[in-house]
Amino acid sequence: MKKLKVMTIFGTRPEAIKMAPLVKKLQETEDIESILCVTAQHREMLDMVLDLFELKPQHDLNIMQHGQTISDITTKVLKGLETVLQKEKPDIVLVHGDTTTTFIGALAAFYQQIPVGHVEAGLRSGNIYSPYPEEMNRKLTGNLATLHFAPTEGNYHNLIREGIEDKVIFITGNTVIDALLQVVKEDYFFENPLLNKIDYNSKRVIVMTCHRRENWGEPMENIFKAVVEIKRKHKDVEIVFPVHLNPNIQKLSRDIMGEEEGIHLIEPLDYEPFANLLNKAHLILTDSGGIQEEAPALGKPIVVLRTETERPEAVEAGTVKVVGVEKSKIIHEVDKLLEDQAYYLQMKNALNPYGDGRACERIIHALKFYFGFNEEKPKVFKA
Ligand code: UD1
Ligand code: UDP
Repeated sequence: MKKLKVMTIFGTRPEAIKMAPLVKKLQETEDIESILCVTAQHREMLDMVLDLFELKPQHDLNIMQHGQTISDITTKVLKGLETVLQKEKPDIVLVHGDTTTTFIGALAAFYQQIPVGHVEAGLRSGNIYSPYPEEMNRKLTGNLATLHFAPTEGNYHNLIREGIEDKVIFITGNTVIDALLQVVKEDYFFENPLLNKIDYNSKRVIVMTCHRRENWGEPMENIFKAVVEIKRKHKDVEIVFPVHLNPNIQKLSRDIMGEEEGIHLIEPLDYEPFANLLNKAHLILTDSGGIQEEAPALGKPIVVLRTETERPEAVEAGTVKVVGVEKSKIIHEVDKLLEDQAYYLQMKNALNPYGDGRACERIIHALKFYFGFNEEKPKVFKA
């Protein structure tokens, strides 16, 4: 039987983290020829992940420019992929999640009449402007896709509600757990001198990240001001914030928090040290999507700096609290977690609704099933 030619397309840090273990596994699979194409919507933050997982893309569109708009990304990726897809003619294209690379990757494949497999399918917040543009990106990608790899049962039901047929949806768990389990180690040694110097026993370390477009401007100002007040109030707390390379966020974070003792604004970390920092943290503040899946797997309470989430599983289980972007609400919730031990322990309750480290295996099994290499459907992931 002819090998199945699978082209994986991604462009940003989170897509790379969540697709890297899949690409590694595709490369090891006998019946599959794996081709990797990166758009490089992110450059440095993408390369950090490619280096860590030792991935060498066959195609690199290298499109990133500083201060790029969504339309800049859209037009460059669409045109760049046309040439690559016409040359490679894969049997299927895999895209991940909800970025502009994801949606345009799916659209470019559709224009060449190549089927699309959507990894991390079916997440929905219900509001097309929050997260923006991600909610629309994933809905549009869902419309273009032939196969849908839904991490959870809830994601599966979202797709069924939108009229997608049961037989093309596979519940696999989230590949981020596959990645996380490969890099987190209890005796991890940080090469970064600051992270290495912190005494994780006597200090309570809060790890924070913040980058979402809908938080740019006033919401982000509120968040950063809240963090300053939290640090001033709690002397045994250290805050580590690896700041996204987006120039708006770099500037605002420096303006509001740059001079504060005990708040460490650092460059984005490689995935391995970052995941291990999460593992040593007391609690996490974030507006990131992926971190909402990683923190519960590590048993860390997480305060989400957004007004809604497309990841309700850990909220229902009690490890995630969505607090919004008002200063007083953020301070109130973090104070409570720092001062009320019983409340903290209840939220810390280790629980992992998102995966068991075998999502990639299930996705490959599903691909082989769909293309007739396997007779059996993969088993459904259950939390
Ligand atoms: C993008 C995705 C968002 C995802 C996020 C993950 C879109 C529209 N947004 O948002 O869904 O959650 O990535 O981080 O697809 N930059 C660098 N180097 C890098 C990366 C970014 O300098 O390695 C700077 C550049 O100036 C770039 C800017 O950050 O123009 C913004 O990058 P962009 O991909 O447009 O948006 P993100 O906010 O990163
Ligand atoms: N991450 C990382 N280094 C950092 C900050 C985050 O490797 O300095 C990882 C994090 O563990 C998660 C992913 O990047 O897997 C999340 O990416 P991001 O917050 O940029 O995007 P989102 O998940 O919100 O789309």
